[in-house]
Amino acid sequence: TNCILLGAPVQDGTGRLGCDMGPSAFRAAGIGEALRSLGHGVVDRGNVAPAPLRPLSHPNPAIHALPEIVAWTEVLSQAVYDAGTEGMPIVLGGDHSLAAGTLAGHARLAQERGRKLFVLWLDAHPDMHTLETTESGHLHGVPMAYALGLPGFDGIFPPLAAALSPERVCMMGLRSVDPAERQVLAATGLRVHDMRAIDENGVAALLRGFLDEVAAQDGLLHVSLDVDFLDPDIAPGVGTTVPGGATFREAHLIMEMLHDSGRVASLDLVELNPFLDERGRTARLMVDLTASLMGRSVLDRPTRSF
Ligand code: ARG
Ligand code: MN
Ligand code: MN
Ligand code: MN
Repeated sequence: TNCILLGAPVQDGTGRLGCDMGPSAFRAAGIGEALRSLGHGVVDRGNVAPAPLRPLSHPNPAIHALPEIVAWTEVLSQAVYDAGTEGMPIVLGGDHSLAAGTLAGHARLAQERGRKLFVLWLDAHPDMHTLETTESGHLHGVPMAYALGLPGFDGIFPPLAAALSPERVCMMGLRSVDPAERQVLAATGLRVHDMRAIDENGVAALLRGFLDEVAAQDGLLHVSLDVDFLDPDIAPGVGTTVPGGATFREAHLIMEMLHDSGRVASLDLVELNPFLDERGRTARLMVDLTASLMGRSVLDRPTRSF
């Protein structure tokens, strides 16, 4: 695979500083070398530069940094679109608001290729607020609503070439859902596997169901990995820790199954806050998970067909 690394030092979508150091921390933790050691081509395009700001406002007074996040959405959408025509874009975040841009860019690419875009969202949160419902006003809480084409983004965020279909989105690891998000999740009917579902069924059975569907529809799969999907005990370097997250073994198994599926076309690594990390351990874990996704394994195994 030709891996194209794109740094996205976005931090204005959160309530605290530090995510702008994420791309550097992923590089320092050896993401490029890890991918090369697996035999992949790696091109590091450096950090994407933010677009110029336009004055923008919204009646919800809680919203922070709307012009900044709209500018990032425009530039990242184009950057992943371009990178996706040449290889596999791996976006080094940056907070999760960057997914507004990456989902828009991948949706456009999939649409032009006549392929169906599927999204695996690994996160403690659904990030499914609209600009009307967000109470924190932190725009890392809205990218999924935007990408699904929920109302209220028109005329503020860039128009979508294609909205995501809810039945092609699978969320795993949820354990912090605001009331407004809960309503939207129920109404739109995406596949949502909260931590209880993981405890009862295990990650393998849940993920296999989704990957079977991706394969049946010959889909392209985008993976969005939020650090807070992981348990804070193993991944402290994030601003929005929620107890009871995925274990080391669950997370690696998911990555290994994704590799075996052969369907992953693009990856976002988001919400790493190196200022909150402990001697780089969260950055290194995210790099190791990326390596599992890209084929690192303990033993050779016969390929399972999903
Ligand atoms: N739902 C909360 C909010 O909207 C938390 C969002 C956390 N999102 C994230 N990408 N870490 O403020
Ligand atoms: Mn605030
Ligand atoms: Mn998130
Ligand atoms: Mn999260």
